[in-house]
This record gives sequence, structure tokens and C-alpha cells, in this order.
Amino acid sequence: MDQEKSNIEYSLLHRFIVWRRKKRMSIIMLIIFLLMVVFALQFYLIDQKGRLNAEINEKEDEAFMQSIKVKFIEAAKLNSQEQNGNKRILKDVERLKRLEQPSRDEIIAKRQTEKVPEAFETDQQLGIPYVITNQKNPYIPKHRIVHFDLKGAPPTIDYFKKIISLSKNAGATGILIEYEDMFPFTGILAPLSAKNAYKLEQVKEILHYAEELKLEVIPLVQTFGHMEFALKYKEFAHIREVPGSPQALCPSRNSSLDFIKELIKQILDLHPSTKYLHIGCDEVFEMGECEICRTELHENLFLKHVQNVAKLVHEKNPKVQVIIWDDMLRHISLQTLQSFKIGDMVEPMVWVYAEDIYRFVQPTIWDKYAGVFKTAWTASAFKGAFGETLYIPNARRHLENNLRWLDVMSTQSISFKRGFRGIVLTGWQRYDHFAVLCELLPAALPSLILNLLATSHGFFNVTQKDQFLSALSCPRQSDNRRPIPFLSLDSDPNMWEKLARCLFPGNEFFKLMYRLHNMENEAKEYLDVTTKQRGWMTAYNGKHNYSLPLRVDELTQELPRVYHGMINLARNTVDSLGKWFDNYTISEWIEQRIYPYMLELEKIQNQSTTLKNVMYWPARPLPILKELQRHGIAIGLN
Ligand SMILES: *[C@@H]1O[C@H](CO)[C@@H](O)[C@H](O)[C@H]1NC(C)=O
Ligand SMILES: *[C@@H]1O[C@H](CO)[C@@H](O)[C@H](O)[C@H]1NC(C)=O
Ligand SMILES: *[C@@H]1O[C@H](CO)[C@@H](O)[C@H](O)[C@H]1NC(C)=O
Ligand SMILES: *[C@@H]1O[C@H](CO)[C@@H](O)[C@H](O)[C@H]1NC(C)=O
Ligand SMILES: *[C@@H]1O[C@H](CO)[C@@H](O)[C@H](O)[C@H]1NC(C)=O
Repeated sequence: MDQEKSNIEYSLLHRFIVWRRKKRMSIIMLIIFLLMVVFALQFYLIDQKGRLNAEINEKEDEAFMQSIKVKFIEAAKLNSQEQNGNKRILKDVERLKRLEQPSRDEIIAKRQTEKVPEAFETDQQLGIPYVITNQKNPYIPKHRIVHFDLKGAPPTIDYFKKIISLSKNAGATGILIEYEDMFPFTGILAPLSAKNAYKLEQVKEILHYAEELKLEVIPLVQTFGHMEFALKYKEFAHIREVPGSPQALCPSRNSSLDFIKELIKQILDLHPSTKYLHIGCDEVFEMGECEICRTELHENLFLKHVQNVAKLVHEKNPKVQVIIWDDMLRHISLQTLQSFKIGDMVEPMVWVYAEDIYRFVQPTIWDKYAGVFKTAWTASAFKGAFGETLYIPNARRHLENNLRWLDVMSTQSISFKRGFRGIVLTGWQRYDHFAVLCELLPAALPSLILNLLATSHGFFNVTQKDQFLSALSCPRQSDNRRPIPFLSLDSDPNMWEKLARCLFPGNEFFKLMYRLHNMENEAKEYLDVTTKQRGWMTAYNGKHNYSLPLRVDELTQELPRVYHGMINLARNTVDSLGKWFDNYTISEWIEQRIYPYMLELEKIQNQSTTLKNVMYWPARPLPILKELQRHGIAIGLN
């Protein structure tokens, strides 16, 4: 045994020495070669210096380096049998090559003369969707309006003003305010205001602020569908279209129009000099169902009501231009639209928030609109469009939606007599009055700025880098030799990674969304493993108080960490939202997003205590499940 072992050792040692010797030889060869190359290079460089200094020509550099590389490879092939040596030499070539690269200043100087600013940050690298077909002549909508949906998470006045100001700097020309129940209604409409509605003075402060910034302010009030905020109350239930549903107003009752008249009066009184009033009229899901309406065609009902509301607006203020959402018009024929002279009374706002605009509004619909209306508005989205329960917008998808809109507008504008008025970037806070909150403003501010810059330039690419980063108070990029792209929307569509160091108002919450994302995944995984995948803490174990304490201990080891992680998240949410929202909103958001996990985790904690308190267990079998009978499934005892 020993003899054998030492033989092996000897032979290993021998091989090692031989290897060392070989290696030393090749290292010496290598050094000699490197010295030769450095010599040759120096001569070459002295020769070339004048030219190199005069003009840095990348192609020549490349050719020069290539020739050295080829020589090296050939030399290496001849001199060394070892693959390693080859690699080493190639590495040295790379190092030499790097040493010979033009300096940063030279790169900058060269780039300026070439007019290719930071060519390494291509649209593709940044993950910017390629959709603009008319690159030469970008279409810039005359108006870029930011939509404030106040039916959920109304910002404090302070935050409202901050966002307005940031929007203005990023190219916004106006704001569309959808007050819903945040408006300080008075008189018979007083019950419509939420208990945390803005005060009259607060609304005036916002309007004054917007006016100072020379922003167009368009108020929006729903007057047909989406009347939940009013029709949910008993005192307004009599003007519902369907008695059991608060979604839509009955257009055929005089009291409905009296109600709308008062609504319009109060809104316009607070907006005495407004040029526009948006009267909603989207998604009227319930129409033609009540006794009076039943005899009428849906499209007639719809158009007649729009006419009536427009008339009420003009009676109050003839100078106001009325705007409606377009979706209810999409399937009404050109003849019908013309016979109601709808084009003389309202302007449509064509909304599509998905990427593919033409899938929802086909060219034939555009032709129809152009035949009826002299002009139109469009509406994209920067948040609140890709899922009712999202907490962070996918900026890439929203950018694609906005860029596609620019393309569609550029194509369609010529068919309208007066082109398009502009685009509204919607930012939904809930999908309707009864839905939970979707993405909050601080989580969506980067998406808003991105899309405002895109719509106010007609495109988005690296040329807006500085504007984008400074709008969001991001630190200047450090002087890397090779700067990393400032966006990579493909791999980082929420921009968490790229904007991790930015200090825009609300950034703490924006960053918290990343933690939420991770915590949520962790909690889901934990709950699934503990109560579904493993076999000792399922609903069955809990119900029958029947488990092995040892296993329960094992399954709850990670529980305190996950549970306290969630609690900390909720605590930090309170801190990060404190300045931007009222306590109702903060509480609502936590209750919807974080609290369910806190509860479920606590339930497991409680269950583990119960299961571990059992000292003696009953004989199997456990009782037959009697509850099955309720579902018509009978399992008897015999
Ligand atoms: C950015 O886009 C505009 C408009 O298409 C174009 O003129 C410009 O050359 C682009 N710049 C870069 C660096 O891609
Ligand atoms: C509405 O009022 C008008 C005139 O005041 C009246 O003629 C009409 O019958 C009323 N309609 C309904 C549905 O009550
Ligand atoms: C909201 O809650 C915080 C924390 O409890 C409290 O300090 C603050 O006064 C509350 N704000 C209002 C307006 O009640
Ligand atoms: C867990 O137990 C505590 C203390 O008994 C109780 O207050 C709490 O409601 C329980 N939690 C759940 C989710 O059942
Ligand atoms: C489970 O068993 C323990 C110990 O016998 C008892 O204290 C507890 O009430 C039981 N819980 C349930 C849900 O049956």
C-alpha cells in the first residue's frame, strides 16, 4: 500500500517538476515576445504618432491592432504548444490595445465632430420600443395633458403641486382633473363629497398654481356611466337606470337632467374661465333597461343624452367646448352620428391604453370620426392600465403605448380638418369607484416623466437622457470609462434598478415597491410551502387539531422573519407616504396590499401554537366530513 502510494506521489511530483520546467520555459518565451512586441510597437507608434494625433481614425486603429493580433497569434502558434500560452498572449494583446485607446477627451471631441452623441446607448440597449415610423419628422401633439384621477389616493395639495410642476418641466401643457368625490360639492350635492374631499380653498390653490404655470386646466365630471360616486347613495338611487346598480344614470327622467345641471353648475362655477369641460360618458354599461328607456335604441339614447348634457353646459357657459370619451361612439354608424349633429356639440377623446392602438380603434373608425368631427383628442396612459391590482407601472409598456399614439396621430391628423387637439396621459388610481387602488402616484412618477418627455419631443431616445435624469433628481452618472445605459427597459421595465439612486418626491415609496415585490414573493412562497406543499400544517391539520409538533416547529422556523418583514414594510409605507397622502389613503393601501399577508402569517403563527398545545391525540380514523352533505355528497358510515 505504502509503496504504491509513494510511487504515485513520486510520479506526481515528477510530472509537476516537468510541468513547472515547461511552464517556466514558456513564460520566458512569452516575456521575450512581449518585449519584442513593445519594441516593435514603439517604433510603429513613433512612426504613426503624427497621424494619430492629427486625427483619430477608428478604422485605422482597428486595422493596426488587428495586424498585431494576427502576428501574435501566428507567433504563438509557432512557439507554444500550450493552449494557455495562446490565451495569455491574446490577453496581453487586449491589454495593449486598451492602452492604445484614445482618451476620454479624445472620444468626446471625436463624438462631437461626428454628431453621434453616446452612440453606445442605442434605442435597443435602452429597451425603447421601436415604433415611430416617421423618424425624420416627429409628430408632437399640441397639447400634452396630465390626467389626475382623484377617485382614489388623492395627493395632498403639496404633492399635487410638486407633480404639476415636474410635469410642466417635462413638457406638459395642461392637466385634466377628474374630481369625482373629491370635489367640495355644496347644497343638494353636498352628500357626494367624500369625507376627505378637498376644501374649496385647496382646489382654488391648485387651480391658481396651474394658472401661474400657464397650464390649461380641464375639469372632468361623469354624466352618464361611472356615476357610482353619486348613485350609490339612497337619495340618488331614483335616477339609476337599473334599480340595483349604481353604475349608470337613467337618461330619460327629468330629475336626472336636473341633477346633471346642478353638477355642471357647481363644477363650472369653480372653473369660470375654462375652455373645456370633459363630461365623461365612457363605459355606460347599463342602457335601455328602465321602463322609459326600453323603447329606444341604445345609440339614440346615448347620443340624445350627450346632446342634452352639452346643451346644459352651453346654457351655463356658451364658450365651453365639451369633450367626451369616444368608446361609446366606436360602433355607431356615420349616418347616425351625423344625424344627431354630434360633431357640432362635442369633441371626442379617443382612448386606448394598450400597445396596439389600431386593434381597438381601426382605420375605418378613424375615417368615421374624421367625417363627423373637425378635431379630436387622444388619451394614452402612464399608469393604471395593465391590471387593477398593480402597484408599479410597467414603464416600457406605457412608453410603447405613448409612442404608438404619436405614430397613429401623425398618420391620422391630416384627415381631421383641424388636426388633433392633443394627447392626455391618463393615470388611473382605481378602475372604478368600487375597485381597490392601483399604482400610486409616487410609484408612477418616473413613468409619467418618461412619457411626457416622449410625447413632448415626438420620440424618446438618448438625447433626452439628461432631461430625464435631472427631472427625477438622479445623480449624475459617474465617470465610467464605458458608461452603462441610463435605462434598460427590457430587463428593468419598472426602472427600479436604473432609478435606485434618484431623489424625486416620493422616491422612498417608489423604492419600497421593490421591497414589496420581493417580500410578496417570499410570503407567497412561504404560505404555499407551509400550507399546501408540506403535509403537517394544511387546512386539514388545523381543522382536526392533528399534527406532529416536531414538524410544526420545523415549518414555522422561517415564519418570524417573513412576518416581521411584512410588518416593517407596512411601517415604512406609513413613513414614505406620510407627506404625500392623507391617513385614509395610506391605511387603505396597506390594508389592500400588505395586511392580507400579515393576517395569513399571523394565522399560521396562531395555528402552530394550537397544534403544539396538543399532548394526546385521538385514535384514527378522524370523523367523517359531514359538511359534504350540504353539497349533495353523502358518505355514510356503513
Ligand atoms: C433621436 O431621435 C430623433 C428623432 O427620431 C433623431 O433625429 C435623433 O437622431 C435620435 N438620436 C439618437 C442619438 O438616436
Ligand atoms: C319632463 O318634463 C317635461 C316638461 O316639464 C314633461 O313634458 C315631461 O313629461 C317630463 N318627462 C318625464 C319623464 O317626467
Ligand atoms: C396621520 O397619522 C399620523 C401617525 O399616526 C399622525 O401623526 C398624523 O397626525 C395623522 N394625520 C392626520 C391628518 O390625522
Ligand atoms: C391570533 O391570535 C391572537 C391572540 O389570540 C388574536 O388576537 C388574533 O386575532 C389571531 N389572529 C388570527 C389571524 O387569527
Ligand atoms: C386543539 O387542542 C388543544 C389542546 O387540547 C386545545 O387547547 C385547543 O382548543 C384545540 N383547538 C381546536 C381548534 O380544536
